[in-house]
Amino acid sequence: MKKTLAVLEGDGIGPEIMREGIKALRTIEKKFDHEFVIEHAPFGARAYFDEGSPFPDQTKAICDRADAIIKGPVGLSLEEMNKIPPESSPELGAILPLRKRFNTYANYRPIRLPKSLASFSPLRDSVIKDGIDILMIRELVGGIYFGDKEEGAATGMKYARDDCIYTEEQVRAIGKIAFDEARRLGATLTHVHKANVLATSRFWNAIIEDMAKECADVECVSILVDNAAFQLVKNPTQFNGVMLLENMQGDILTDQAGGLLGSLGLMPSACIGPEKGYVEPAHGSAPDIAGQNIANPYSMIGSIAFLLDKCLGLKEESDALWNAMFDILERGYATSELAGETTDPKNVLSTRDFGDMVVDILSQS
Ligand code: IPM
Ligand code: MN
Repeated sequence: MKKTLAVLEGDGIGPEIMREGIKALRTIEKKFDHEFVIEHAPFGARAYFDEGSPFPDQTKAICDRADAIIKGPVGLSLEEMNKIPPESSPELGAILPLRKRFNTYANYRPIRLPKSLASFSPLRDSVIKDGIDILMIRELVGGIYFGDKEEGAATGMKYARDDCIYTEEQVRAIGKIAFDEARRLGATLTHVHKANVLATSRFWNAIIEDMAKECADVECVSILVDNAAFQLVKNPTQFNGVMLLENMQGDILTDQAGGLLGSLGLMPSACIGPEKGYVEPAHGSAPDIAGQNIANPYSMIGSIAFLLDKCLGLKEESDALWNAMFDILERGYATSELAGETTDPKNVLSTRDFGDMVVDILSQS
C-alpha cells in the first residue's frame, strides 16, 4: 500500500518521540512491504515564532493532500507561551482548527493496564483486579470548545461567556461510533453526562437512549460525570468496555484515566473524521524534559499504531506495533517516569532505547 502521511512533530519532547515513532513506522513499512511517503510540516508554538502562525498555510496544504496526519504534542515553556496572543496559541490557533478542518469528531483514547503492569498505577492491585481496559470515546469538534466565546462588559459589569452547543447530527455521529465499538468488543457502553444540570446533557441522553433502543444488542448504561470521576478511582474496572463522553467532560476524564495508568506517556489517541484522521499523544509537550532522551515514546508509537488501524485499515500492522510495546513493558522494562522501586535500574529505558527495542521486536517476529 502506498500512502502519504503528514508529520507535524510539534514542540518540546515532540521531535524526539516522533523520531522513535517514525522509526517504528519505517520498520512496519519494510516488514509488510508498504510505501509511506512522509511530508514534515511545522505546527505549534515553534511554528508561530518561526513562520508567524501555529498552523501555517503550507502545513494546511500538506495536511490536505496527505492520507492521514501524525501530530506530536505542542507548546513551549510558560515564558515563551506568554509571548503568544491567545488566538495564535497552539490550542486555539492550531489544534482546534486542525480538528475543525478535518471534522475529526471521534477521539479514541484507550486506557489499558493489564494486571501484569499494575505496579505502574498509583492504585492498589486489589483495585486493578484483572486489569483496566476502557476505550474512552470523546466527541471532539462540538460543545463548549467550539461555541461562541465572549469577554465583555455590560452596564459596568465585566463578564465572559462560552456557549455549549450540540446538534442532533453531532450526537448521533459520535453515538454511532460508540455503539459500533461496543458491539465490536462485545462490551458495555457507559454514557457519561451531567443531565441533572445541563440542557446539552439532557439532549445527549435522549438521543443516546433512542439509539440504545435501535442497538438492543449492546448493553448501554449512563452515569453522571461527577460520579464517574469518583468511580474511576474507586472501582475503575466496572467501566471496562466503552465510555462515551462529550468534548469537555471527555478532556477531563481522559486525563484522570491517564492518572490511573501512572503516566500520560501511556495515552495514545486517534482523532477520526469522515474523510481522514490524525493521531496524537493525549499528553503535552513537557518542555521541562525536552531534549534529554528520557520522554516515554509509547503514546507516540501507540498513536501511530492507531493510525495504521483507524486511518489506513492496516489492522495486522497495528497489532504488531501494540504487541511489541506491551512485550517490552511486560518483560519488566520501563521508561524513567514509570520506573518504581521494584524496577531494576538496568531496565530503565531512554526514549531511544524504547524505540530501538520496538524495532528489534518487530524485525525478529
Ligand atoms: C487534549 C488537549 C487539548 C484539548 C488542548 C491542548 C486543546 O488537552 O487533546 O486533551 O483540550 O482537547
Ligand atoms: Mn486534554
